Amino acid sequence: MSVKNKTLYVLENNKGDFISGTEIAKNLSVSRNAVWKSIRILQNEGYNILAVKNKGYCLSIDTDILSPQSITKYLNNKNTTNFNISVYKTITSTNDLAKELAIKGANEGTIIIAEEQSKGRGRFNRKFYSPKGTGIYMSIVLRPKLHASNAFLITIAAAVAVSESIDLVCNKETKIKWVNDIYCDNKKVCGILTEASMDFESGMVDYVILGIGINVKEPEKGFADEIKDIATSILDNDTPLLENIRSKLISEILNRFWVYYENIENRSFIDSYKKRSLLIGKNIIIHSKNNFEKAIVLEIDDDCKLKVKMEDGSVRLLSSGEVSIKKCEP
Ligand code: BTN
Repeated sequence: MSVKNKTLYVLENNKGDFISGTEIAKNLSVSRNAVWKSIRILQNEGYNILAVKNKGYCLSIDTDILSPQSITKYLNNKNTTNFNISVYKTITSTNDLAKELAIKGANEGTIIIAEEQSKGRGRFNRKFYSPKGTGIYMSIVLRPKLHASNAFLITIAAAVAVSESIDLVCNKETKIKWVNDIYCDNKKVCGILTEASMDFESGMVDYVILGIGINVKEPEKGFADEIKDIATSILDNDTPLLENIRSKLISEILNRFWVYYENIENRSFIDSYKKRSLLIGKNIIIHSKNNFEKAIVLEIDDDCKLKVKMEDGSVRLLSSGEVSIKKCEP
């Protein structure tokens, strides 16, 4: 690891406090000059590092740049070795890069995170708006020993991990809109795109790319016209991105998801998924090709299928697709 990256680890671990150049140099077994050069590079990259004579250096708490260092410090100890995190300033799509790496043999736990995506993708080939510095755009390479028919459990576990983590770290009450959108105050704050490759001979999953996109703060220019009525952010405009909130949230999601993932077939997250459901008891519209049908949601079953009662009284179990909540008629 470069001296710059090691210096960043030390500064992140002492964020908000001064640490002398001599102490950093001693910690890293490098010269003070090497530390000074690293500090200059980090400052040029946008890190707000105060340098005060006789006190040393201090990474300001209002610096909210995602880095492996800022995230790793909140991970559970054992997870620091499970994950290999890379952070990009800008990228086309973290899912695309993660997929490319998975095809080349990347290990499980390879994580790609970006501050901005130019071609962020959502389900049904939709665009996922990924503006700079206000969201979390993250993809995880997984290699589960799972039959393809159970691959949906990964998305469900991720939705629960994200919803629980937002509530804990940001003090919110999020809900999960079947199948895997996270809602806050009745608007979407997070979408999950799971892409899998399977071995047709065995029917087993080869790799999975779990892509998570979260609107943490409202983008400077607001949400794009086509989503502004349905999307929102976790934090409002007046709340600064203080105290590494995005890094804390990423780590909490990874910590929680990994516990569920390591025991995925136990389905320990299903109860939380059901409790967090936004749709139970709601009047909805089921979208299929050019067809829209009204129904009422009865429950979510143990396989996370949506049990609905149609207008003609028949009951259906939906396993995938898209539904929207029916607006009250005036
Ligand atoms: C959806 O809402 O339909 C799913 C959105 C998934 C967006 C995430 S952001 C990180 C990863 N990279 C992408 O291009 N998409 C996913």
